[in-house]
Amino acid sequence: MVSVFCILALGWLWSAVARGFQAGEGLSDAERLLRELGADEERQSLEKSELWKRSAGLNEQTCTSLPGVESTLQNSTHSFTFRVRTMGSLSLAWVGDGSGVLLVLTTFQVPLLMMRFGQSNLYRSEDYGKTFTDVTHLINHTFIQTEFGIAISPDHSGKVILTGDVSENGGFRLFRSQNFGMTFVPTDLPFEPLIQILYSPGDSNALLTLSMTLDLWLSEDFGATWRKIHESVCLVRWGPKNSIYFTTNNNGSCNDKGMLELRKTADYGRSFTIIATSVYSFVLGGRFLFASIMTGGGTERMIHVSVDGGEMWNMAQLPTVNHEQFYSILAANQDMIFMHVDDPGDSGVGTIYVSDDRGTVFSKSLERHLYVTTGSDTDFTAISSLRGVYMTSILTEDGAVETVITFDQGAKWQPLRRPQNSHCDTDTSTNRPNRCRLHIHASYSTTMKMNVPMLPLSQPNTVGLILAHGSVGDAESTLFPDVYVSDDGGYSWLLALRGPHHYAILDSGGLLVAVEHTNSPVNQIKFSTDEGHCWHTYNFTSDPFHFSGMDSEPGARSMNVSLWGYRNDFSKWVVITIDFRKLLSRDCTEGDYVQWLAHSTDSSGSNDGCVLGYKETFLRLRKDSVCWNGRDYAAAKKLSPCPCTVDDYHCDFGYYRPMNSSECVEQEEIQGRPLEFCLNGTIEQLQTSGYRKIPGDQCEGGFQPDRKETNLRRMCNINTPSQNPLTETSSLNAAVVAMVVIAILLTSAVAGVWLVKKYVCGGRFLVHRYSVMREHVEADKIEGVDDTDAHYMETGKAQYNEDSDQDLLE
Ligand SMILES: *[C@@H]1O[C@H](CO)[C@@H](O)[C@H](O)[C@H]1NC(C)=O
Ligand SMILES: *[C@@H]1O[C@H](CO)[C@@H](O)[C@H](O)[C@H]1NC(C)=O
Ligand SMILES: *[C@@H]1O[C@H](CO)[C@@H](O)[C@H](O)[C@H]1NC(C)=O
Ligand SMILES: *[C@@H]1O[C@H](CO)[C@@H](O)[C@H](O)[C@H]1NC(C)=O
Ligand SMILES: *[C@@H]1O[C@H](CO)[C@@H](O)[C@H](O)[C@H]1NC(C)=O
Ligand SMILES: *[C@@H]1O[C@H](CO)[C@@H](O)[C@H](O)[C@H]1NC(C)=O
Ligand SMILES: *[C@@H]1O[C@H](CO)[C@@H](O)[C@H](O)[C@H]1NC(C)=O
Repeated sequence: MVSVFCILALGWLWSAVARGFQAGEGLSDAERLLRELGADEERQSLEKSELWKRSAGLNEQTCTSLPGVESTLQNSTHSFTFRVRTMGSLSLAWVGDGSGVLLVLTTFQVPLLMMRFGQSNLYRSEDYGKTFTDVTHLINHTFIQTEFGIAISPDHSGKVILTGDVSENGGFRLFRSQNFGMTFVPTDLPFEPLIQILYSPGDSNALLTLSMTLDLWLSEDFGATWRKIHESVCLVRWGPKNSIYFTTNNNGSCNDKGMLELRKTADYGRSFTIIATSVYSFVLGGRFLFASIMTGGGTERMIHVSVDGGEMWNMAQLPTVNHEQFYSILAANQDMIFMHVDDPGDSGVGTIYVSDDRGTVFSKSLERHLYVTTGSDTDFTAISSLRGVYMTSILTEDGAVETVITFDQGAKWQPLRRPQNSHCDTDTSTNRPNRCRLHIHASYSTTMKMNVPMLPLSQPNTVGLILAHGSVGDAESTLFPDVYVSDDGGYSWLLALRGPHHYAILDSGGLLVAVEHTNSPVNQIKFSTDEGHCWHTYNFTSDPFHFSGMDSEPGARSMNVSLWGYRNDFSKWVVITIDFRKLLSRDCTEGDYVQWLAHSTDSSGSNDGCVLGYKETFLRLRKDSVCWNGRDYAAAKKLSPCPCTVDDYHCDFGYYRPMNSSECVEQEEIQGRPLEFCLNGTIEQLQTSGYRKIPGDQCEGGFQPDRKETNLRRMCNINTPSQNPLTETSSLNAAVVAMVVIAILLTSAVAGVWLVKKYVCGGRFLVHRYSVMREHVEADKIEGVDDTDAHYMETGKAQYNEDSDQDLLE
């Protein structure tokens, strides 16, 4: 996939402008659907009457009001109106970390096919969005295509690049800043760029891009001079240590997939090595490099994995699939990957497999995993606020979508518990009242155009906290989701807000804010200082506006939140920024924190809290403390080791755990067959009692099941694409991969807004620095994938990729 615009993704959901133009167009698809279901009005009245009477649900806990909210916050509310029409798009980029610098690029583009014409305005704020200065003159009023966006260096050093279109003078011009956008230096490009500029994660002066003619261009001096380092390049990625990986074609067409060569350079293009041939596509994720490589002769492909940057390849040991099925990498970190393997037939479900630490031997983790197409329609979500936690949906035999969660990196999965302050949707629960549970809405629901404005939200520095839309019943409800909060990483949940909301986490979880998701103009923000138990309201304006989205500095440490939208005259973008610092005026002190044992389920057991070999005790803010954690807050934690138990093991290759069970059971199709696979060029035989330690697990002593890999000293050669070496030696051959969709993933909605996907790279969680609000949303088309340390959004340019925005490893 050549089309890569590297920046973090952000899909703007609502059709802000469409609403402005035609009255009848005022509904989002989701809302229209709901209208058709006839439920809208009923809902609205329900909400009005119930909304703020709720205290903390069933606990009957009363919420005390915070005195002086209105007057305190009124002095801290700032409004700014942009002098440009809402038509077109508006992109935001945070420059630096904690600098408060926000660049806003508005682009009005005439949507003529193959013609670029438009107008851009650049604004800059130094105070977290409270005030902006029009700095369009800094880029000499040059038109900036939205697709090229604002390229921010990932190392927070304040570097910014805008790609200006000066095609009337026949070319493209970079505007480069190294001082947080205060000044820009123009540089004419010697080529026409095809994709957004890619910063090397290891050196922000090293930049890469592809030209329209598929040449690979490199700059080592932050874009001042450019060097063509290769021709006929299809897909390029930065790898670790400033290495560059790319596929090349032999005869000028990237459409000849399967005929590509995968090359690598470690010296900025002075020398190249071919690391694989007959390549269809590749992806970098965690420690792993994956490539899908044609098998001899036919049209079949299989996945090869390398953990040393392409020197040595192994085939992923997965069940065989036929050519209609697909594979997808759901998550990758330094230890392991989660891989989805589609079931035969058009079932919409598949099986999740987890890898060993080599990415080679896979074992079954979850069956009937919902993954409808080869696109983004899976709910798989990595929870970044607690180690080992992932959430996704399964499709039951009787067609219900149910949410399941794992707390130990895929070893065991279980349903979510019902929140205490909730009751089941009566219409659905009657059949199976004992199965009344919480179900979370994630990407699948948004793909289905349900009324879910945001994906589940969790942040690494807000220990245990998750905000998500969900519904309680025996399956995922298609009606109205409410907002639920978990403060312990998904073990227990609380109904926090009725109806769909946009939400954000501020001050490392000390403050949650939410704005109702509705079609009408809004003037109210809700906030909670106790992790969602009690909510207060503040009317931030007397003149309600059409709310488009919410944004705060990435990383959830800010106290300033900006609400973006426009007023009734449909003409101007408005941003209202609220600074909550005056409200939480007191700095938190020692007494405001309490000890909390993560993953605690049974406080009497000695192994309570043990996950992946150790316990973690955090100091967390007490719920009743109304104080400021501060920008530099990091939750203090203490680790202690645990002895090994059966829970520290994945089921080995050929084994699986039935839902809820700890025991590993041999898969029927494997019984009585020898477990053999190809590793390092020779055949390995696996003798196992069914258990394999979870990659990264640090347990000591305790349960130590037998497991042995014996080298049979029979050669197998997987680097020769013209043969399929395993067919003779084992019936458990590596999969014949028909289609592989690698969507290295990570679904966490990012601070603020929009349907954003956040990607975990190398075990690090990235934050978004860039967002686009636009009138036409391609919510389900925005799906980024990447592997290097930058945060990337990839969107298709028509001439290259009309069907998908993903990094497909097919
Ligand atoms: C709000 O600001 C005004 C003037 O800047 C000041 O007189 C007033 O005391 C402030 N109110 C609060 C509650 O801080
Ligand atoms: C700004 O743009 C105008 C018109 O495109 C051009 O004549 C002028 O030279 C540019 N100035 C700079 C400093 O690039
Ligand atoms: C490129 O190579 C492929 C496979 O060898 C062949 O099918 C295709 O026709 C070639 N295209 C051109 C333009 O030569
Ligand atoms: C705040 O706005 C809501 C309408 O959104 C209104 O019902 C309420 O009375 C307002 N509250 C105050 C204190 O003005
Ligand atoms: C909020 O914005 C102000 C500038 O307007 C800044 O001084 C302050 O540090 C910001 N607060 C946080 C917590 O980021
Ligand atoms: C899983 O465990 C829950 C409670 O822990 C129980 O209600 C449910 O029946 C179990 N499911 C299966 C399939 O055993
Ligand atoms: C395979 O090769 C790697 C590096 O070349 C080595 O570290 C590993 O031990 C080898 N594995 C086996 C099973 O020989």
